[in-house]
Amino acid sequence: MSEGETGRGTGSAFLYVGMVAAIAALGGLLFGYDTGVISGAILYIQRDFPMDAATQGFVVSAVTLGALVGAMSAGTLADRIGRRPTNIAAGLIFVLASLVSALAPSVSTLVAGRFLVGCGIGLTSVAAPMYIAEVAPARIRGTLVSGFQLAVTLGILGAYLIDEALAAAGGWRWMLGMAMAPGLLLVVGMLPMPESPRWLVESARDADARAVLTQVRGGADVTSELAEIRSDLAREGAGSWGDLLGHEARGPLVVGIGLAVFQQVTGINAVIYYAPQIFQSAGFESDTVALAATVGIGVINVLATFIAIWLVDRAGRKPLLVAGVLGMVVALAVLGLAFRDAAAGTAGELGDITVVCLALYIVFFAFSLGPIVWLMISEIFPYRIRAQAIAVSTAANWGANFLVSMSFPLLRADLGSAATFFLYAALGVATLAFVVLRVPETKGKTLEEIGRFWA
Ligand code: BGC
Repeated sequence: MSEGETGRGTGSAFLYVGMVAAIAALGGLLFGYDTGVISGAILYIQRDFPMDAATQGFVVSAVTLGALVGAMSAGTLADRIGRRPTNIAAGLIFVLASLVSALAPSVSTLVAGRFLVGCGIGLTSVAAPMYIAEVAPARIRGTLVSGFQLAVTLGILGAYLIDEALAAAGGWRWMLGMAMAPGLLLVVGMLPMPESPRWLVESARDADARAVLTQVRGGADVTSELAEIRSDLAREGAGSWGDLLGHEARGPLVVGIGLAVFQQVTGINAVIYYAPQIFQSAGFESDTVALAATVGIGVINVLATFIAIWLVDRAGRKPLLVAGVLGMVVALAVLGLAFRDAAAGTAGELGDITVVCLALYIVFFAFSLGPIVWLMISEIFPYRIRAQAIAVSTAANWGANFLVSMSFPLLRADLGSAATFFLYAALGVATLAFVVLRVPETKGKTLEEIGRFWA
C-alpha cells in the first residue's frame, strides 16, 4: 500500500473526501428518484394522455433504454473530457430532461424526456462510482462508494413519498419535474470539485494530480502514491475499446459483467417496481395499505444500506456478498413456498409471510448486491480499460434490469408467483457460486494493486 494511503487519514482529509463523494452521489439520488417515481406517476399520466398498454410500457421503460445508451457513452466521455465534467454533464441532462418531461405536451415528448432522463442515469451510474473510487483512499473506498447506493435508496424512498403526497392532486408533472432540484445541485456542487488524480496523471497533468492528491489526502506526502499511479499508467499505456477483447481484460470483465447481471436477475426490481402489486396479490387489497407497505420497503432499503457502509471496509466485500445472497435465496424460496401453498388453498397467512420475506429480502440485498456491485465495478478494472469496462458492465446491468422489469408481470401471469420467486431463488444460487468461485477480495487494496492482480 502506498504512503499516501497509510496512517495519514486525518479527520479533515476524510471529511473533505467524504464531501467530494457526497456531491458526486447526488447522481445516485437522481438515479433512485427517477427510476422510482414512474410507478406512481403513470397512473395520472394516463388520465391526461389515454394510451394503450404498449405505449404505457414504453413510457415506463424509456428510462432503462436511455440508461443503456447513457452508460455506453459514459466510458468514452469520462476518458476524453474527464470524470468531473462527465458528472456535470449528467447533472445538466437531468435538469433539461426533468423540464422536458414535466412540461411534455404529448406522449411522444414525454417518452423523449424520459429517455433523456435515462441518459443522465446511465452517465451517472458509470461516472459517479468511478470518480468516487478514484479519489477515495483505499481503506475507506468501500464506505464512500456505498454512499452512492445509499443515495440511490434515498432517491427511491423520496419518489415513493412524493408520489403519495401528490397522488390526491394527480400531480404527475410535479412528480417528474421535482428531479430538477437535485440535478441543479449536482451541477453546481460538482463545479468546484477536483478532477480525479488518476485521470490527471493520464492526461500528463502531473502538477495538478499532485495538488489534488495532496488536497484529498489532507496534506499528507503523496509522492509514493503518485509514483505508483504513474508507473502503473506507464506500464499499461492508453487503452481503447479493442483492449476489452484482449486476454488480460477477460478476468475482470467476467466479474464486472457477471456481478452487474446477477444484481438484476435475482429479482430486486420485481420488488422495487412492483411491490404494491405483490402486496395486493398476497391479500392486502386496499391501495393505501399496499402503498404504506411499499414505503416500509423503501425505508428498510435505506436503513440496511448502512450495514454495508459500516462493514464493507472491515469485513470485506466477499463475506457481505455471500451472507447477503444466501439470505436473499432463503427469503425468495420461503416466499415461493408460501405462494405455492396459498395457490393450493392450504395457507392463510400469506400476507404476513409476504411482508416478512420481502422485508428480509430487501435487507439482505441492501447490504450486499446493492452497494457492492457498484463498488466492485468501480474498483476491479485496471486503469487502461477502466472507463470502457465500467461502461460495458453498467450497460449490462441496465439491459438485465430492462429484461427483468419487463418480464416480471408476464412471468407471474404465465408461471404464477410461486414459480417466479423460485426462479429468482435459483438464479441466487448461481450468484452465490459465482461470488465464491470468481470474485476476488478487494478490501483495503489500492486500485493499482487490484489492477496488477489480474496480470
Ligand atoms: C440497483 C437498482 C435497484 C436499487 C434498489 C441498485 O443497486 O442497481 O436496480 O433498483 O439498487 O435499491
